[in-house]
Amino acid sequence: MEGNLAIAIFNMDLKAQIDHDKLPRHIAVIMDGNGRWAKKQGLFRTIGHENGTKAVREIVECCAELKIEYLTLYAFSTENWNRPKLEVETLMKLLVSSLKKEIETLTKNKIRLNAIGNLDALPKKARTELLDVIEKTKNNQHMTLTLALSYGSRQEIVKTIQEISHKVKNNLISPSEIDEATINNHLYTRDLPDVDLLIRTSGEQRISNFLLWQIAYAELFFTETLWPDYRKNHLFEAILNYQNRERRFGKTSEQLEQ
Ligand code: IPE
Ligand code: IPE
Ligand code: MG
Repeated sequence: MEGNLAIAIFNMDLKAQIDHDKLPRHIAVIMDGNGRWAKKQGLFRTIGHENGTKAVREIVECCAELKIEYLTLYAFSTENWNRPKLEVETLMKLLVSSLKKEIETLTKNKIRLNAIGNLDALPKKARTELLDVIEKTKNNQHMTLTLALSYGSRQEIVKTIQEISHKVKNNLISPSEIDEATINNHLYTRDLPDVDLLIRTSGEQRISNFLLWQIAYAELFFTETLWPDYRKNHLFEAILNYQNRERRFGKTSEQLEQ
C-alpha cells in the first residue's frame, strides 16, 4: 500500500509538470520488448504479448486524459509475418480479443479507431473485427488511435509511387505537379499530421520500417523499459523530455526567439 502511494505521488508530480500548451499533437510508439519481458521470467513469448495489451490500454487512456489528438501504435510490421506461425497466430487472436474488449474504453473516451498497413493480409476474422470497431467509433472526435498492422513504411512508399504513376500515365496529373502534398495524400496516413514524438521501448534504437516519411522532423525518445512494463509515468517522462527540446526545423535558436 505504501509503495503504491509513493508511485501515485511520483506520477502526480510528473503529470503536474506537463505544459498543456506544448503537448505533442501526434505521438507514435514502437511497442517493443514483449518477448524479452516474458523470457526474463521464464515464460512463453506469447505471455509477453498478452501483458503488452495492458500497457496499450493504459497508454491509450493516458493520452485521452491528456487530450493528445493522435496516437499511433506499431502493433505488427510486414516483417513480423516472418515470425514462427504460432506466435503470429497468437498475435492475431490477441488483436481480435483486445478489439472486442476495448470497444467500451474507446466509446467512453470518444476515441476513433483507425488502421494503417496492408489490412488485406490480415486473417479474415481480425480484419472483420477491426473494420467493425473502426465503423462503430468513426464519429468519435476526442482522439484518433491508429493501429499500424501489417505495416511497413517502404511498402507504403512503393504503393504511393505506384498510385501516383498510374495517375501520371492516365494524364490525371503531370510529373511537375507532384509535390510533398501529393505524396502525403497517397500515404496510409493521409488523414494524420506528421509525428511530433516517436517513442520506442526496450532499449532498441532503430526505426524498423515505421513511418519513415512521417517522422522526418519527429523528436525521438528511446527508453529501456520493456513494453509490458510501460505505464503512465513512463509516458509523462517522455512528454516532459519532449517539452524540454527546442524544435528548430532548420532555423537557428535566435530566429525562434524572435
Ligand atoms: C514487440 O515485442 C511486439 C511485436 C513486434 C509484435 P517483441 O515481440 O518484438 O519483443 P522482443 O523484441 O522479442 O523482446
Ligand atoms: C518492430 O519491432 C515492430 C513492432 C513493434 C510491431 P520488432 O521487434 O519486430 O523490430 P526489430 O525486428 O527488432 O527491428
Ligand atoms: Mg522486438
